[in-house]
Amino acid sequence: MAGLFSGSGFSGGLKISTLEFTQLKDIIYELSGIFLNSNRKYLVENRFSGRIKELNLKSFKEYIEYLKYDRNKEAELNKLADLITTNETSFFRDNPQLKVFTTETLRQMIDEKRKSGKLEIKIWSAGCSSGEEPYTLSIILHEMLKTELSKWRIQITANDISTDIIQKAKKGEYAKYALKTTPPLIAKKYFTESKPGVFQVNADVKKLVRFARINLNDRTELKKIPKSDIVFCRNVIIYFDKEMKKKVISAFYDNLIEGGHLYVGHSESLHTITNTFKAKHHEGAISYRKI
Ligand SMILES: C[S@@+](CC[C@H](N)C(=O)[O-])C[C@H]1O[C@@H](n2cnc3c(N)ncnc32)[C@H](O)[C@@H]1O
Repeated sequence: MAGLFSGSGFSGGLKISTLEFTQLKDIIYELSGIFLNSNRKYLVENRFSGRIKELNLKSFKEYIEYLKYDRNKEAELNKLADLITTNETSFFRDNPQLKVFTTETLRQMIDEKRKSGKLEIKIWSAGCSSGEEPYTLSIILHEMLKTELSKWRIQITANDISTDIIQKAKKGEYAKYALKTTPPLIAKKYFTESKPGVFQVNADVKKLVRFARINLNDRTELKKIPKSDIVFCRNVIIYFDKEMKKKVISAFYDNLIEGGHLYVGHSESLHTITNTFKAKHHEGAISYRKI
């Protein structure tokens, strides 16, 4: 996976002092829970210089003042989130994990719900980036339930801290690259090439997903998310320090129904974070269940 600051390509940037770096780092942490290592100084210079010039400011010192005191600071704090996070994602990312999710968790859940007559599944995709993850989950549900889907109430709540990325997700238009790990038959069935090289996710897939900008560091906002059967939070907590990881995982615990499932990224683990979930090891994936 690309690093936290991949892709800016800006050169000839402004310099940040050690004190300014610490101040900016604290602002970012307070805002998003994202923890910046001191070796990220150069990358901060690289990413923020363009934005500082865009605001007609001259230095990191002025930018920090702006973030603290300007009347537009709220909007800028949003922008900040776009600058510091990587939104790297793709459809059907981590296929082995999705296979476990489909053949174990979802299949069993669907069987149990059919038996109980409660045809309802709620999923939360937390840190959804440009929508590839929640739309993938919607496609999987379409494939599992087929014509039966119309009898079910499926709700996929998808959130990200970045306002721009949520706008992109709502549009549902993607370059071919986003489909790089999507089985070709699925791509054909659920996408339309609306313009050359632009793939539009079909309306039925979109219908199950509700997007909103939410900061995982804001406990009050998190409480508004409907109770979930399943939470996906993949490749997000990797950017948080231990305290923030604990906070976020405990919010997922509270959000999940009894026996609900949590999926984190391939390189992420709850091992030192909590013992309130039961880990199940599968070939190529770990799934967690609320106990
Ligand atoms: C690498 S992407 C992962 C996307 C997707 N879950 C996946 O695995 O493909 C990480 C996403 O987490 C979001 N993010 C980071 N900190 C966040 C926070 N405090 N609240 C909500 N989203 C956050 C970023 O904006 C980014 O879109």
